[in-house]
Amino acid sequence: MVHTEPGRLSLLPTFAAITRASMVPPGPIATAPLDPRAATAFPGGVNLTPDTTAAADAYLTDTLIAPDEALQNALAAQRGADLPDIEVTALSGKLLNLLIRMSGAKRVLEIGTLGAYSTIWMARAVGDDGHVTTIEAEPDIAKVAQQNLNNAGVAERVEIKIGRGEHVLPTLVGAEPYDFVFIDADKESNTLYLDYAVKLGRSGTVVVVDNIGREGEIVRPDTTDPKVQGTRAGLEMLGRDPRFDATAFQTVGSKGWDGTAIAVIV
Ligand SMILES: C[S@@+](CC[C@H](N)C(=O)[O-])C[C@H]1O[C@@H](n2cnc3c(N)ncnc32)[C@H](O)[C@@H]1O
Repeated sequence: MVHTEPGRLSLLPTFAAITRASMVPPGPIATAPLDPRAATAFPGGVNLTPDTTAAADAYLTDTLIAPDEALQNALAAQRGADLPDIEVTALSGKLLNLLIRMSGAKRVLEIGTLGAYSTIWMARAVGDDGHVTTIEAEPDIAKVAQQNLNNAGVAERVEIKIGRGEHVLPTLVGAEPYDFVFIDADKESNTLYLDYAVKLGRSGTVVVVDNIGREGEIVRPDTTDPKVQGTRAGLEMLGRDPRFDATAFQTVGSKGWDGTAIAVIV
């Protein structure tokens, strides 16, 4: 039996009528071209396979992310320079871009530049009056990144600091606080990087940690992989350290099964 308060009942038909009136009939369905892997992905129902998740990733990317010459060129340049295929996906790059815009961040710190693919996504988000500091350990990789930033037209708002995070981060203490920190380097150092995120940030700074799923290895009890151990230590720090309030989500797609943690500095 449904109990309604006096006066509430009379609102219900009106609400239903408004809802009906405001429903727009579906228009013609615009279908984005499907990735060829989708054709063979469903032999006997829906399957969670590398093909289905990659095809779904391709569909989401084609549907939500406009083709972008500068980003494509950056990827081509880093492939041409034989850099590993470990940059964020376009969907994750866009997530970083949106999080920065949603939080109004103007000063961004990235640890782990590679060819600056993620850096370009973030540099665009901070706008003309924003700044990105990105740290890369390998000078040869930093050269590729610098060229990509120049070609993408965002070099003015980005500074690449060459050196290991553990050496560069202490030199940034005392500067204006960062509003957004993206941690995407050696996973063994995640707790050190999180500690510096607090030292270099402020209450409200957004912190994103990439690659926290690691094909499910984070729950392998007997793992001896230092990357997995570092990832787990970082997640446990985010969970128990009162300086953070955090969540995480797993992802599947063109880069396999992984995930991202997102936190705010309390
Ligand atoms: C996963 S890649 C970064 C990908 C990049 N954020 C993107 O999405 O386009 C990690 C990068 O961190 C760099 N790196 C590894 N250890 C580092 C350290 N201790 N300090 C700074 N950079 C490091 C590697 O050379 C590599 O270029």
